[in-house]
Amino acid sequence: MLADLWPLYGLIIATPRLELRLARDEELAALAVLAARGVHRPHERPFLTPWTEGSPDERARAVLQGQWRDLGRWGPAAWALGLGVFRDGEPLGMVALRARDFPVVREVTTSSWLGVDHHGQGYGTEARAGVLTLAFDCLGARAALTEVFQDNHASQGVSRKLGYEHDGISVDARGDEAVVSDRLRLSREKWAQGQHMAVTVDGIAACRSMFGI
Ligand SMILES: CC(C)(COP(=O)(O)OP(=O)(O)OC[C@H]1O[C@@H](n2cnc3c(N)ncnc32)[C@H](O)[C@@H]1OP(=O)(O)O)[C@@H](O)C(=O)NCCC(=O)NCCS
Repeated sequence: MLADLWPLYGLIIATPRLELRLARDEELAALAVLAARGVHRPHERPFLTPWTEGSPDERARAVLQGQWRDLGRWGPAAWALGLGVFRDGEPLGMVALRARDFPVVREVTTSSWLGVDHHGQGYGTEARAGVLTLAFDCLGARAALTEVFQDNHASQGVSRKLGYEHDGISVDARGDEAVVSDRLRLSREKWAQGQHMAVTVDGIAACRSMFGI
């Protein structure tokens, strides 16, 4: 019923070990609890928006509100698809695909987080490959972009493995500190040259108009 009105609820991306899909309410709560338990080690600050730096309850609510905000603001001109990452039904984290003016620009950006116990097991690479398959193979993206702090070795590692190329830097204020991020770009051509894991995307036909295509 919900998926009839909001077909993104019927979109399922399957990678060898993972399922990526829009979380239903109780699943979103489980993802929020996972974030409350920790998204990174205490001394790390991987995000420009400091959503992980509050108390566990604040972190959990940031996950809920982020998802509600993204869905509430959804439109073909600007969208942000935050998908739950599940393994055998267990929530591991979230991966997001965003775009503005996608029908014209044909570029997406990605971001992700995993519960800290799930880092370093290849799930981040698998989840990114899943949303890139949606972007390139289903939506016809021309490029995928991401911005990563230079000291975020795990996120840099995911992008390197998937063939992203360096595309300059950006400098932002994080409090009083100027922090440098690498801008990374994966072109459609580079994606097409890569050897990719098996990924299937179900339910995309009903969603196409929501993406503006
Ligand atoms: C970033 C994140 C999603 C990556 O997912 P992950 O599952 O931990 O990463 P993977 O296991 O797929 O690793 C990808 C590559 O990076 C390397 N890598 C992973 N963690 C690393 C670390 N701490 N230091 C150096 N290299 C690392 C891996 O070795 C792997 O390369 P390899 O297969 O050639 O060995 C996850 O670590 C995370 O949620 N981090 C906290 C939040 C965050 O930083 N989000 C991104 C903000 S831009």
